[in-house]
Amino acid sequence: MRHRDVLNHHHTMLHAIVALSTVMCLVTAGPPIAVHSMAYTTVNEKTLYIQGGNPEQAGDRFANQFYALDLTRSNWDTTNPPWTTLSAGVSYSGAPSSAYHFMTVVDYGQSLMIWSSLERTSLSLNSSRAVEFNISNLTWSGVQYSNTTIGNFVTFPGFAKSGATDPGTNLVYIPALFQKDTGMTVYNITQAAVSNKFESCATTAPMPQPLGEGRVLSGHSTVWSEYSGSLLVYGGRYEVPPTDPLASPLTPAVLSDRLVEYQPSQKDWTIVTTKGESPGKLASHCMVPAEGGRKMIVFGGSKETGSTIVPEGGIYILDVPSWTWSQGTSVNSSDFRAAMACSVAADNFIAWGGTNGDNILGSMIIYNLRSQQWTTRFSPGGQRCCCSSCRSNCRIRGLQTSQMAFSPRSSLSTEL
Ligand SMILES: *[C@@H]1O[C@H](CO)[C@@H](O)[C@H](O)[C@H]1NC(C)=O
Ligand SMILES: *[C@@H]1O[C@H](CO)[C@@H](O)[C@H](O)[C@H]1NC(C)=O
Ligand SMILES: *[C@@H]1O[C@H](CO)[C@@H](O)[C@H](O)[C@H]1NC(C)=O
Ligand SMILES: *[C@@H]1O[C@H](CO)[C@@H](O)[C@H](O)[C@H]1NC(C)=O
Ligand SMILES: *[C@@H]1O[C@H](CO)[C@@H](O)[C@H](O)[C@H]1NC(C)=O
Ligand SMILES: *[C@@H]1O[C@H](CO)[C@@H](O)[C@H](O)[C@H]1NC(C)=O
Repeated sequence: MRHRDVLNHHHTMLHAIVALSTVMCLVTAGPPIAVHSMAYTTVNEKTLYIQGGNPEQAGDRFANQFYALDLTRSNWDTTNPPWTTLSAGVSYSGAPSSAYHFMTVVDYGQSLMIWSSLERTSLSLNSSRAVEFNISNLTWSGVQYSNTTIGNFVTFPGFAKSGATDPGTNLVYIPALFQKDTGMTVYNITQAAVSNKFESCATTAPMPQPLGEGRVLSGHSTVWSEYSGSLLVYGGRYEVPPTDPLASPLTPAVLSDRLVEYQPSQKDWTIVTTKGESPGKLASHCMVPAEGGRKMIVFGGSKETGSTIVPEGGIYILDVPSWTWSQGTSVNSSDFRAAMACSVAADNFIAWGGTNGDNILGSMIIYNLRSQQWTTRFSPGGQRCCCSSCRSNCRIRGLQTSQMAFSPRSSLSTEL
């Protein structure tokens, strides 16, 4: 344990005791109920959060659940992951249950934001809204509705939209919009806190559209790379949407195998030319960063262009500095899946939940990025990325550490 960690540990234990005595909503828990199309994100490779999701294969009934997985704990395997249940937001009327939505880290790692345009419990449209969850005091707040930008967060049933935060500027980028508006939403939470509206959203250059006007992308994955200081989007399905966003798309989907990059400094997109064997045309996969954004891990998904899911189990690692893909070992076919939650901590790539087209999965699988094997054990360990090899990551981490009142770890400690 490094010196700073020891200090933080003392500090955080104290806060944890205070937090636990005042906020009695932490419960060590069994696993979440099996869902697909949940919102999820990981804070500082320390905690994976998952929220909502759809527990049904054919129907739509959104789970009102909100869980954290402590990625700093050792000695666990896929049969007993250290889940903690968090307040699902029932006390706060605007808090989302939802599915086909997404979550981003905001406030320099202090809060989560859940973005949805559906009703809390069903597949009907509500106004676009973003709800903030304060990790320090475990409280939902700050629902922001928009009735002017409703198209921005609308999704097709079955395919989640996505967005990501630049931890340096605290801006949230949400690409790939619905129907006519093909720009990207850039959300400044600081400004929004003042106006309490989405009006602080700016739109910027549209993502390159390979198929002409009118098609919309869904089921893609959006990640911020701290290493490249840019937004990366991989794959997805292009479809011509009907006027009613909840009706079936008008055209068969065309899957994308493109990696596109948005550079905020250029305010524009580029289609990245990559080397090596890419994951190919894919939707409802996940992409998560590793090693401070030097690597992107793409897993699972579906290659089907119709409405049924044909699950995949491939894992691909993109080396960002050289834009080179390498293929890892595919998971056993019984664990193929799409629309799951994914995370990376130290050497572990983790996937939880999802669907294989026939069943909703509640299982967790772990890929060891070092040994390049699937395993049932979570291996704790130091960060794979050290600061000397990853300057931007070092800067960002320093910023986050100093600005965090206490770490997610402490607020989720189940040892007390
Ligand atoms: C949208 O959700 C909010 C909060 O749950 C609710 O008050 C409102 O009535 C809903 N709007 C519609 C159009 O159903
Ligand atoms: C928790 O933080 C939110 C702001 O994120 C604030 O509105 C709320 O009052 C705080 N609640 C408690 C119990 O401190
Ligand atoms: C979160 O809650 C903590 C403790 O109540 C507070 O100090 C902090 O300002 C809150 N964060 C935000 C973004 O409101
Ligand atoms: C949005 O809602 C507000 C409050 O209900 C209303 O005053 C405003 O006119 C609405 N804007 C649009 C464009 O519908
Ligand atoms: C976000 O908004 C705040 C308040 O208006 C402003 O001070 C800040 O510069 C904005 N951030 C960025 C990155 O534009
Ligand atoms: C994958 O399947 C093989 C053969 O069925 C089995 O030996 C192995 O334990 C499985 N691996 C995992 C991680 O489940």
